[in-house]
Amino acid sequence: MESHMTANSTSKTPTVWDGVCITPFFDTEHSASRLLFITHLIGWQDGRELAVLNHILSLPNLDEIRGEPQAILEAIEKWSQKNQILMVIGPERGRTILDLISETKPKTMVELGGYIGYSAIKFGSAVKAVGGQRYLSFESNAEYASIAQKLIDLAGLNDFVHITVGPSTDSLNSLARQNPPGEIDILFLDHPEHLYVSDLKLCEDSHLLNIGSYVVADNVGGPGAQEYVSRVEGRAYATEKYRCVLADGDLDAMTVSKRLE
Ligand SMILES: C[S@@+](CC[C@H](N)C(=O)[O-])C[C@H]1O[C@@H](n2cnc3c(N)ncnc32)[C@H](O)[C@@H]1O
Repeated sequence: MESHMTANSTSKTPTVWDGVCITPFFDTEHSASRLLFITHLIGWQDGRELAVLNHILSLPNLDEIRGEPQAILEAIEKWSQKNQILMVIGPERGRTILDLISETKPKTMVELGGYIGYSAIKFGSAVKAVGGQRYLSFESNAEYASIAQKLIDLAGLNDFVHITVGPSTDSLNSLARQNPPGEIDILFLDHPEHLYVSDLKLCEDSHLLNIGSYVVADNVGGPGAQEYVSRVEGRAYATEKYRCVLADGDLDAMTVSKRLE
């Protein structure tokens, strides 16, 4: 499996990596995992997310892609290949999660870190297709959430994919208060890695996760996710790790964990 992020050069030449175009702008002393950490925390703050939305809304074939999740995902990928990297899961890693959805047929899937809605459209449409009930996307940044909402509306998924704006911990607490135990069939962690352990513990302690529920975590190859990986490699979970190598040789990984106890 390959990753969609890297920073291995001082050259400004765009590189294509897992279907996403990357223009390296960090020098070699900054590792890819540091770049990943910073972008997940604060983003790029250069308006690229609004640019991709405006591009899609001005496509001449807009009416043809309305209600077509796959066409909207491809439009996002194409824009990114031509222009700038977006911190989306991408087609390669996305495939692993799509396989899990089709195998396990979740009723409710929850993602922490929704960004511009790429993963919500990809996985939300898949959960809907296997007869699920809802896809919940928790995103702390109101601007990203508003872009995601517009793309989800365009994809025709607004009756199925629901965005909550705010820190993941608050949104998980509300979900636990408002629902019976065992609400989450698949939990997808894709927000800053330092929150993975505390948010996972919250889901365990508040009984949002059942025995047999799955937890998928992206970007667990770096030092920031070590405690998380140790936890899901303990006896309470059966975990598979999917490794990837970034262009500068750094390792990254995704874990898929089934809760056993
Ligand atoms: C890697 S992006 C998510 C990508 C998305 N899952 C996709 O594949 O399309 C990480 C997102 O986490 C969000 N984020 C950061 N801190 C958060 C928090 N405490 N709660 C929820 N989201 C958070 C960031 O704003 C950013 O949009």
